[in-house]
Amino acid sequence: MKRAIYPGTFDPMTYGHLDIIERAAKIFDEVTVGVLDNKEKTPLFSVEERVNILKEATKDLPNVKIESFGGLLSEYCKAQDIHIAIRGLRAITDFEYEFQMSMMNSKLSHNELETVYLNTTLKYSYLSSSSVKQIAQFGGELEDFVPKSVAEMLYERLYKK
Ligand code: PNS
Repeated sequence: MKRAIYPGTFDPMTYGHLDIIERAAKIFDEVTVGVLDNKEKTPLFSVEERVNILKEATKDLPNVKIESFGGLLSEYCKAQDIHIAIRGLRAITDFEYEFQMSMMNSKLSHNELETVYLNTTLKYSYLSSSSVKQIAQFGGELEDFVPKSVAEMLYERLYKK
């Protein structure tokens, strides 16, 4: 059985993330979406909120499960017996950071964790969680980028009238 993890901060999940999850679910037998619980960073959404948003969005994908993790990805994968990490690539500018992270994960896992990149679908190639937060701050339209319930949460927290 081919199992993979799609790790990220998902603060919040966008349709770009969902697109990667849906495509990964067609390639792998089981996809764990790993939501980073980083005590040092202060994300807009708590880890519980981020997990719940992803659970709701993926409820019709039977081979996708949502989990949170803390610490090193390589350690979490070792404990879960997962050997493939999926990352989405939007543009060449993502590559340097992703390449470094993949090399580091390879090293830390003693070559037990392989990174597989999926290129983002063209219509989401400019989309990021940070741009979505910025749009929300100024009351811009979010319907093409995140589910309605997520847009409402974003406006509630960020929109300054
Ligand atoms: O959505 P993001 O913020 O680009 O995801 C980054 C993430 C969560 C995949 C990455 O920061 C991560 O794996 N963090 C856990 C700590 C770790 O393992 N770091 C070593 C690799 S450089």
